[in-house]
Amino acid sequence: MLKKRVAVLVSGGGTNLQALLDAQISGVINSGEIVLVVSDRPDAYALERAETAGVKACLIDKKAVGNQQKFEAQMLEMLAAEEIDLIVLAGFLSILSADFVSRYERRIINIHPALIPAFSGPGFYGLKVHEAALKRGVKISGATVHFVNEIADGGEIIAQQAVNVLPEDNPQTLQQRIMEQAEWQLLPHAVEEVCKAMNTVGVY
Ligand code: GRF
Repeated sequence: MLKKRVAVLVSGGGTNLQALLDAQISGVINSGEIVLVVSDRPDAYALERAETAGVKACLIDKKAVGNQQKFEAQMLEMLAAEEIDLIVLAGFLSILSADFVSRYERRIINIHPALIPAFSGPGFYGLKVHEAALKRGVKISGATVHFVNEIADGGEIIAQQAVNVLPEDNPQTLQQRIMEQAEWQLLPHAVEEVCKAMNTVGVY
């Protein structure tokens, strides 16, 4: 079977990207191949991680491009040129329009650092998610991988992993534990499952 061609969209440190790159080496990801990393910000350390791993790393600078339409047009052109089968949003902070998402129906997945539907939707990203979880006083949080549709964090859930919230937690310690104990395992396994299913016609 041909490996599915995977693009990872990033905006920041790229620890989830690193987990995917490591999973490709360890063989956890075998049905897909990460062939492209695209950042919407020039200062994303994730781009260095991609270059170090020998993966094509591109920048489409959202601010420099100026508007959503042009930004998405450039992104779509790059994804088509690389014949991408699956798009993975890994710490990617730009909103993608319904038009963009409709072109890759059930072929875009995202990792969200909470147990959707909790602490999800517009405005819930990065540390804000964990600040809200601690403010509500939940004892369990975690991470979710889901398909991306036109509703923020509203697509079908693929996988979830629960993580205990400790009394002494602050947003940073909770974020770190959820990344270590949930995100960095969930996302690679979900990429493998979705790529494998894409090879099985009619599933997913
Ligand atoms: C983190 O908040 C993570 O929980 C979420 O995106 C942010 C940055 O992730 N998925 P990364 O280190 O850039 O992968």
